[in-house]
Formats: sequence, C-alpha cells, structure tokens
Amino acid sequence: MPRVIVNCAMSVDGKIASRVRKQVRLSDESDMARVHKLRNDCDAILVGVGTVIADDPSLLVKEKYVENPRQPIRIILDSKCRTPPGSRVLDGKSQTIIFTTQGHEKQLENAEIIACGTDMVDIKKILAHLDNMGIKTLLVEGGGTIIWSFVSSGFVDEFKVFINSKLIGGGQAPTPMDGNGFADENEFPELNLVRSTMSDSGILLEFLAKDTGPK
Ligand SMILES: NC(=O)c1ccc[n+]([C@@H]2O[C@H](COP(=O)([O-])OP(=O)(O)OC[C@H]3O[C@@H](n4cnc5c(N)ncnc54)[C@H](OP(=O)(O)O)[C@@H]3O)[C@@H](O)[C@H]2O)c1
Repeated sequence: MPRVIVNCAMSVDGKIASRVRKQVRLSDESDMARVHKLRNDCDAILVGVGTVIADDPSLLVKEKYVENPRQPIRIILDSKCRTPPGSRVLDGKSQTIIFTTQGHEKQLENAEIIACGTDMVDIKKILAHLDNMGIKTLLVEGGGTIIWSFVSSGFVDEFKVFINSKLIGGGQAPTPMDGNGFADENEFPELNLVRSTMSDSGILLEFLAKDTGPK
C-alpha cells in the first residue's frame, strides 16, 4: 500500500476553515514552502470533492517554491462526480484522477474517472489501485471528512499539522478530522510526536502513527 501522509493547517482552536467553509490562509510563507516541497516529494496528492467545491485548489507544486516541479498526480474522491467542470484540478496542467462510485461515472475534461465502490469511494480499493499504478507516497490534504475516513480506516502513516496563531471559532467550522469521530477512549488512535518546528506565526507538529492497524 502507498505510504499515506496527512498534512493540514489549523488555527489555535483547531479549525481548518471558518464556519462559512471558505479557504483561509493558515500556512505562513515558510510553511507554504514546506508544503510545496512535500507535495513535490509525493507521487500523488488527494483531496475530497468538498475541498474542490469550497476552495477550488489547483493541487500543483508552485515553481516559486520548487524549481522544475514534478507535479504529482491529483486525486479527487467524489462518489457522485460532483467536481464542477472548470475546476482548477481539471486544467490539464497535471494528471487528475477522480475516483467515483459505480453508476456515477461521467466524462470530465482532463480527468480520468474510475469507479471504486458502490455507496462511497472505497479507501482500501483506491489504495490498492494506486499501489498497482506504482504510487509509493500519497499526500492527503483534506478536508476533515476525508481525513477522518483515512484515519478511521487505519491507513494513515504520518500526520503533519501546522498550527497558526489565529483563532477562528464556531461549532460548525471544519476541523482536521470531522466525520463521526471516535466515541470511546480506547478507540483513539495514538500518534508519536517526532518533530516540532517553530516558524514566524505558528508551529509545525509532525507525528508518526503508532499502529496503522490492519491494511
Ligand atoms: N486548512 C487546511 O489544511 C485545509 C485543507 C483542505 C480543506 N480544508 C477545508 O476543509 C473544508 C472541506 O472539508 P469537507 O470535510 O467539507 O470536505 P472533504 O473532506 O474535502 O470532502 C468530503 C467529501 O468527499 C466525498 N467522499 C468520497 N469518498 C469519500 C470517503 N471514502 N470518505 C469521505 N468522503 C468521501 C464525500 O462527498 P460525496 O459523497 O459527494 O462523494 C464527502 O462529502 C473546506 O472548508 C476547506 O477549506 C482545509
């Protein structure tokens, strides 16, 4: 299976966007440089369709941060093929794969559409598919629903979070891990903190999974 690295940025109070779910810049300049180098070092970058609709990210490596970037494959999990035509991930500047579910395959310019699952995109199956494609490292950038799915399925090997010094608040504002959440203390996956790095406006915490569970 590919090595799965989660990376996100959050406020001091643990929010990855505001309650209106619009993209907010939470990485400072040094963290942006780190994220783009990390993207460039990975074989593929993955987000959920919620992030595509909310933020319209390009998921490209910017030349400003990395000289001659290799542009990893862009992967979207989108069970009902809701990715809006005209989204930046469909700009043809790098390969894009949209994983959807059976019966929801449709044509989108500059994207390969692959059905993988019946109700929701099946994480285990897509990882097997990516493995067959030779993908060794997968960077999962969010949002909270997707990160929850990866963590709760036991597929996360590394978890990196940049904590900015802003406060956002709001019970409905997304967090790094939404979804249902774990109820019992003995279900909480434990991570090993391996590095902390201060920057101008925050701190990067890097964790390794203690036990990634059965794959
Ligand atoms: N600060 C950061 O680092 C950061 C990074 C990324 C995003 N964000 C923020 O996160 C927010 C978006 O997060 P979100 O939770 O709404 O959306 P999301 O996690 O990007 O996407 C969730 C959607 O993905 C689809 N999906 C397909 N297969 C899935 C699976 N196996 N498990 C889970 N979801 C699956 C589902 O929609 P379908 O059922 O239609 O397929 C689901 O609603 C935005 O506000 C954005 O700004 C912040």
